[in-house]
Amino acid sequence: MNTITLKSPFDMHIHFRDGDMMKVVAPLSSANFAGGIIMPNLVPPVDTKEAVIAYKSRVMDAIGDDDFIPFMTLFFKPYTKEFLSDVRDKISAVKLYPAGITTNSEGGVESIDTVALAPTLNAMSELNLPLCVHGETNGFVMDRESEFMSVYEELAIAFPKLTIIMEHITTKDAVNLVQQYDNLYATITLQHLLITLDDVAGGMLAPHLFCKPIAKRPEDREALVNIAVSGNEKIMFGSDSAPHPKHAKENCGCAAGVFTSPIALQALTQLFEANNSLDNLQKFISDNACKIYNMQPRSKNITLIKKDFKVPEYYEGFGEKIVPMYFGDTLSWSIKS
Ligand code: NCD
Ligand code: ZN
Repeated sequence: MNTITLKSPFDMHIHFRDGDMMKVVAPLSSANFAGGIIMPNLVPPVDTKEAVIAYKSRVMDAIGDDDFIPFMTLFFKPYTKEFLSDVRDKISAVKLYPAGITTNSEGGVESIDTVALAPTLNAMSELNLPLCVHGETNGFVMDRESEFMSVYEELAIAFPKLTIIMEHITTKDAVNLVQQYDNLYATITLQHLLITLDDVAGGMLAPHLFCKPIAKRPEDREALVNIAVSGNEKIMFGSDSAPHPKHAKENCGCAAGVFTSPIALQALTQLFEANNSLDNLQKFISDNACKIYNMQPRSKNITLIKKDFKVPEYYEGFGEKIVPMYFGDTLSWSIKS
């Protein structure tokens, strides 16, 4: 096959940031995708109706004329049902961060107690409002996600009608767990399908591959690739594209986040082709997400062509450089303009 057309590709986990950074990165998503879930971890976090509305309007400005729907989210806090009902039609999900676990998550949840959180989570169930979760404990870095599996189980059992999205899963344990409960689903990023900890820290330290959760072992990556390319209905693409200025990555104290939105479709096509699974890419990139989030596909199609794509060394704006994953490398698929 020399071309493939993806109908309504969605990125179900993106960090657009705000201000000048958003003006550079948002168009790189909106050019290639039909929509995406926009994460709320701004400073301060998006946690009021006014903040959601104002942020969405800044997002719409940043994407200009592109046909792209930003699905907005709220930063999880204990909210009342009245508040959630009032904001329901403005948001697609609520994102829960354990406090301090990743970039801009200081205002997150100190302890995930199903009794204390029940009023909010029951209200979300009744409103069919999905809960997206950054599933890591504050344990040893390689074990953080696996240690969180018991929390996902507690949530899945205590709130059986709540749609729970295990964000950016990185382990075999998570691949197993998502298949065990009807109300658990997961996103997988590009980098976790392609790299292991060796790529981050096995040779010279690679700051542009450093993110939370950190990439894991080869057997974890293999489990992620297998479930993604199988087209499994519980799994969707969420890039977790998380841009930081070059100086914040190439720094003593490297910010967590891999910037992938401009290369994601090309690299995913290459990966699915290498796994003889191009037929399942449509499910991973759109169909599964539409079912899980109860969304209508859009009319936007993106065609990729088998032609070399040289990944830029960096994208630029506001006096800053932003370095994408695989900068300077060549991918075998390009977006057909
Ligand atoms: C994300 C960011 O920079 O906002 N960083 C990351 O390493 N993935 C936050 C997140 O999703 O954890
Ligand atoms: Zn993220």
